[in-house]
Formats: sequence, structure tokens, C-alpha cells
Amino acid sequence: MSEKTEAAANAARPLDSTDTAIGFHPLIRVRDLVKNYVSGEETLYILRGINFDVEQGSTVAISGQSGSGKSTFLNIIGALDRFDSGSVEAAGTNISGLSESGLSSYRQRSIGFIFQFHYLLKDFTAVENVMLPAYMTGMRKKDAIEKAKILLCDMKLDDRLDHFPSQLSGGERQRVAVARAMVNDPDIILADEPTGNLDPKNSAMVAELLYAGAEKWSKTLIVVTHDEKVACRAKIRYVLENGLLGPAQISSFGGIN
Ligand SMILES: Nc1ncnc2c1ncn2[C@@H]1O[C@H](COP(=O)(O)OP(=O)(O)OP(=O)(O)O)[C@@H](O)[C@H]1O
Ligand SMILES: [Mg+2]
Repeated sequence: MSEKTEAAANAARPLDSTDTAIGFHPLIRVRDLVKNYVSGEETLYILRGINFDVEQGSTVAISGQSGSGKSTFLNIIGALDRFDSGSVEAAGTNISGLSESGLSSYRQRSIGFIFQFHYLLKDFTAVENVMLPAYMTGMRKKDAIEKAKILLCDMKLDDRLDHFPSQLSGGERQRVAVARAMVNDPDIILADEPTGNLDPKNSAMVAELLYAGAEKWSKTLIVVTHDEKVACRAKIRYVLENGLLGPAQISSFGGIN
């Protein structure tokens, strides 16, 4: 068993009392997570009892066929979507019983989102797009701008700070979106196909900067991706299949079986 496969197998197992004794305190702890969609007469069983633990500061990649439930799973951890049964604890919050306003403050405090599309505000510059979430939640303007500049420099956009989205390439826009996801200092970054719209070269660059940024700022990163090269940079890899997460089996050709 490769090191990564073994790590995934270990992380996939349920925790027991000895884990606490040996100091394993997951930042994300999902138990028996079930999510169904009912449409008309039909029930779609999407997530069928997922158990999932992620250590603080870890990087995790989740792959799986289209429609397997990857976005649904990520959205549940990010409190964008409700679930039917089970429990989700993340960043010290049990989100199972939270009200709408509780969920909203959990999202604001603990989660940074990155999607396939950048969702930048077109009338605002790169710095403004990044500083706004911090400024809107109470950071002083000067400090928010300073933080935005630091994050954009991490994303190698030093010379694009005052560009509008229309003046940026696809890869650059996505790097602004990565900086924006980090500006409020969330514990967890959730990235759903962050390189899905990019060519291979830009995809590799955005992925490397995303992982490096997460490591530099001690973020816990979960990336959903179809791209083998993006997935293989993660410490731990899973495949979502038949409603359950299993360790990714890495073949000798580098693909997932
Ligand atoms: N609101 C909804 N109502 C009914 N079914 C839904 C709803 N949202 C998602 N689904 C179904 O749930 C399944 C999982 O969707 P999800 O978007 O999580 O898949 P995914 O693994 O992210 O796929 P992709 O790789 O194409 O992004 C799909 O079959 C989808 O059609
Ligand atoms: Mg999806």
C-alpha cells in the first residue's frame, strides 16, 4: 500500500476512544452522513453514511464520477446545503443543529469557498475584490487592503493589484478568488473544481498556489477535482462512489482506479 493510500485508509476509519488518547483531534468530523434528494415519486440516495475525519492543516482531494455527490458533500461541510441524518462538526462547531443565522456566521467565520467560476465583482479591482469580505465583516479598511495585498502577492499577482476582472486572464481571476477565500482567515478552504475552467498550464499554477497558500497560512483544504494532477498534490485522497468515500487507489500509471 502506498503512503498516500495508507494515510487515506487510516483517515477513513471511524475514530474510537484511543484516538483522543493518542492526540488525534480532527478539525472536521463527519459521522454517518446521509443526503437524499426527493424529486416527485423518486428518491435519489446521494450520500449513504459517510464517515470522514480531517486533521487541522491537512490537504484532501476528493474525486469521483460526475453526479456522485462531491459538490453536495462539500456544500454540506460548508453549510450551503442541509443533510438528512448524521452529524458534521467542523472548526469546533456542530452544524447539525444550527439555525440559519448560526449557519451563516459559521460560514463567515470558518469557511472560505472557491468555485469553478470565480464570481469576482466586475466593477472592483483585484485588491478591492479580496479586501471586501474582510472590510464588510469589520476589519479596518487599511488593514483589509494590506491583507489583500499580501494574499495577492502570495498568488503572484503583485503587478495586477489594480486590474479589474476583465483585465485579468482566467487563471489570474481564479488566483484572485483563492486570495479572497483566505482573507477572513477561515480554518477551512473548500474548493469545488477550482481549475475546472482552466487550461493545463494555468490549472497547474492555480493548484500549486492554492496548496502552497493553504500550507503557508495553516488552512485545512478540501479540493474536489476531476484533474489527476490537482488531486495528487493533496496529502490525502478519496474517491466518492456509491454514496461513500473510499481511499483512492493510485495505479502505477498515476491514474485513479
Ligand atoms: N437540488 C437537487 N435536487 C435533486 N437532485 C439534485 C439536486 N442537486 C443535486 N442533485 C443530484 O444529486 C447528484 C449529485 O450532485 P452533485 O452536484 O453533488 O454531483 P458532483 O459529484 O458534484 O458532479 P459533478 O462532477 O458533475 O460536478 C446528481 O445526480 C444531481 O443530479
Ligand atoms: Mg460538482
